[in-house]
Amino acid sequence: MARLAINVDHVATVRQARRVQEPDPVTAAALAELAGADGIVVHLREDRRHIQDRDLEVLRQTVKTRLNLEMAATEEMVRIALKTRPHVVTLVPEKRMELTTEGGLNVREQKSHLQVVIPRLQDGGIIVSLFIDPDLQQVRASQELKTDCVEIHTGSFAEAQSPGQQEQELNRIEEAAVLAEELGMTVHAGHGVDYRNILRLRDIPEIEEFSIGHAIVARAVLVGMERAVRDMIALVKG
Ligand code: PXP
Repeated sequence: MARLAINVDHVATVRQARRVQEPDPVTAAALAELAGADGIVVHLREDRRHIQDRDLEVLRQTVKTRLNLEMAATEEMVRIALKTRPHVVTLVPEKRMELTTEGGLNVREQKSHLQVVIPRLQDGGIIVSLFIDPDLQQVRASQELKTDCVEIHTGSFAEAQSPGQQEQELNRIEEAAVLAEELGMTVHAGHGVDYRNILRLRDIPEIEEFSIGHAIVARAVLVGMERAVRDMIALVKG
């Protein structure tokens, strides 16, 4: 049965719309954990558009499950990660103008940089995950870099415009997950996962953890965090 990690970035998005104190992603994380979440995820972006350094520090002290920090593989972020020591770091590509993370890391192209960053984080006791597209060459390149984990980007599946395209994308995710597991890596998956499309993804047994943010926070605004998390747990583990 897969784990469910909740990304609370968009609780901070609402707070930053007014540059005030509320709603607090730390409180949202605590409620998510009380509702049964297996982990908490935040993306500390270079432009600090939602999660702030303070959020990461407080979450590191208060999260009882596992804290997963999504970040770009920059010197600033590596230093923050080594100081804060979250349980997991997920390395993601980051572009200033994007609305959300748009694609997976090009592990093959960034090999020389990543082969320095990954062991630095691992030597700090941090589990390292690479956010990659469901592409077999990216999976192999990730294993060559001795990463602990890959998170497979499910965005193309989530955005598929026809049942045929959705099926095709699902197959790509499944093939990437199978290969990653065969090569000894833990498999996470996320981006664009919602209360409907999870029903297809949960049947891929190699996926050990789903990382879900927007759909859960969007529902939480209407029905509360606890119910939004419980509804998703029932689907992930159902
Ligand atoms: N995984 C990664 C690496 C992401 O960058 C994001 C978005 O921040 C998510 C998962 C969650 O995506 P969503 O908010 O669409 O559920």
